[in-house]
Amino acid sequence: MYVIALSHGKGGVAKTTTVISLGTALTEHMKRVLLIDLDPQAGMSPLLGLGMPDPQWSIAQVFYDSASIGRVIRHTDVLGLDIVPSSHELSMAEQYLPLHRNYQYQLRRILREVEPIYDFVLLDCPPFLGAVTLNAIVAAHMLIIPTLPEMLSIAGMQHMREWVNHAKIDNNPYLIYRILITMYDKRNRSHIEITEKLRQRLGEELFETVIGVDNKVRESQILGKPVLVHAKKSRASLQYRALAQEVLNYVERKP
Ligand SMILES: Nc1ncnc2c1ncn2[C@@H]1O[C@H](COP(=O)(O)OP(=O)(O)O)[C@@H](O)[C@H]1O
Ligand SMILES: [Mg+2]
Repeated sequence: MYVIALSHGKGGVAKTTTVISLGTALTEHMKRVLLIDLDPQAGMSPLLGLGMPDPQWSIAQVFYDSASIGRVIRHTDVLGLDIVPSSHELSMAEQYLPLHRNYQYQLRRILREVEPIYDFVLLDCPPFLGAVTLNAIVAAHMLIIPTLPEMLSIAGMQHMREWVNHAKIDNNPYLIYRILITMYDKRNRSHIEITEKLRQRLGEELFETVIGVDNKVRESQILGKPVLVHAKKSRASLQYRALAQEVLNYVERKP
């Protein structure tokens, strides 16, 4: 089982979109995938056509009441794609978790239960760097930081890298991280220039795949379907498939 966290200290950088799209693309390779919504806004379930989740059955119960994670897993319409919903109650985790010793390892312990069931677990982090995000980073093998090719978003990404390097040294020395450019607009000069500069500076740390702006993403979300299902051949779908291939090449590479 390979665990990927998606995190950025800001909202609106396509974290949730990437979790759903990358997860769906991995199921096309017959991988069994679990998506875990760790954002107290709980926005992932409706995007998968499941409506607003019942707050009694969310990742919050697993954190607070030691409920089994198996009890809160739900299937989606995509074969091989399951989800653990979030709920508003998770916002208390920032105060609650640090009261416990070794709290940063809690999610890693929780995930042991599903180790035999899934090939990939994708963690959708909240848009701030706190106790929940730390849990995700400690539990993950890979961290993907999605960022827009815009200065504010890049600054947030840099901040995240520093924060992660700190967390990594203390708790998860083998974590690797990758930057993903999202909502790239090829008609925008500054997007082109910023992406070019990032590529020179970050080299391998930056995914070769870039996710462009595509209206099919919003359209599919309104319908509660992954873009890869709603618009199979859309630009975003092809790009997310290329991203999945890059991830698989990395994960399945022979040592
Ligand atoms: N490739 C894309 N093209 C167009 N719109 C996108 C794309 N990716 C995401 N969006 C839109 O941008 C907004 C933020 O995306 P979201 O995944 O919710 O970000 P986050 O989880 O980081 O807050 C959503 O309205 C989503 O529909
Ligand atoms: Mg989100």
